[in-house]
Amino acid sequence: MIDGSEAMRPVGPPFLPANFVRIRRFQPGDLAGVLELVNATFREQYDHRMYLALAATWPDATLVAVDGSQRLVGIIFASLQREVEGRILIFAIQPELRNRGLGSRMLREFLLVCLSRGMRAVTLEVRVSNESAIRFYTRHGYRLVGHLPSFYRDGEAGYVMRKAIP
Ligand SMILES: CC(C)(COP(=O)(O)OP(=O)(O)OC[C@H]1O[C@@H](n2cnc3c(N)ncnc32)[C@H](O)[C@@H]1OP(=O)(O)O)[C@@H](O)C(=O)NCCC(=O)NCCS
Repeated sequence: MIDGSEAMRPVGPPFLPANFVRIRRFQPGDLAGVLELVNATFREQYDHRMYLALAATWPDATLVAVDGSQRLVGIIFASLQREVEGRILIFAIQPELRNRGLGSRMLREFLLVCLSRGMRAVTLEVRVSNESAIRFYTRHGYRLVGHLPSFYRDGEAGYVMRKAIP
C-alpha cells in the first residue's frame, strides 16, 4: 500500500521501450550522425578520421543506438589498452533521450563485448565537473582511481574511473 508521501514522489520519464532504440555496431554511414551528436555534447571536436580509425581497430566495441527512423541517438567509441582493458573514449546519448535508461543499456552492451574478449577492466576519463556522468558510472560499479590535472584542452582536470571485470 502506498502512503501519501509515496504518492507525491515525482515520477521520472518512462524507460524507453527496448524496441524503440536498437543498439548495433557503427557503420561508416553513421559518421554524419556521430559528428552531430559529438558537436551537440562535447566542447572538444575531433577529426572524422579518428572515429573511422577507432571503429576499424575494434569494430565490436564501436556501438551506436538508432531509433525507429534510423536517427542516431547514442554512441560509444573505445580503444583497447594493452589487449586487457577497454577504454571508453566517447560516450553520448542525445540530450532529449537521457535519463531514460539508454545509456545504461549501451554501457552494459559494451561491457559484454569486453567480457567476450577476455578483458580485465574498463577504464575511462571524465571531467571533474561532470557530476551526472560520475554518478552514472559509479552506479554501474566504476570507481575513481586517478586524477589528471589539466587533462582537457580548456585546462579542466579529469578523473580516471575503472571497473574490474570479474
Ligand atoms: C552519461 C550519459 C551517457 C548517460 O546516459 P543516459 O541515457 O542518461 O543514462 P541512463 O538513463 O541509463 O541513466 C542516467 C540516470 O537516469 C536515471 N533514469 C533512467 N531511467 C529513468 C526513469 N525512467 N525514471 C527516472 N530516472 C531514470 C538513472 O537511474 C540514472 O541516474 P543516475 O545517473 O543518478 O545513476 C548521458 O547523460 C550523456 O550523454 N551525457 C553527456 C555526455 C557525457 O557526459 N558523457 C560521459 C563522459 S565520459
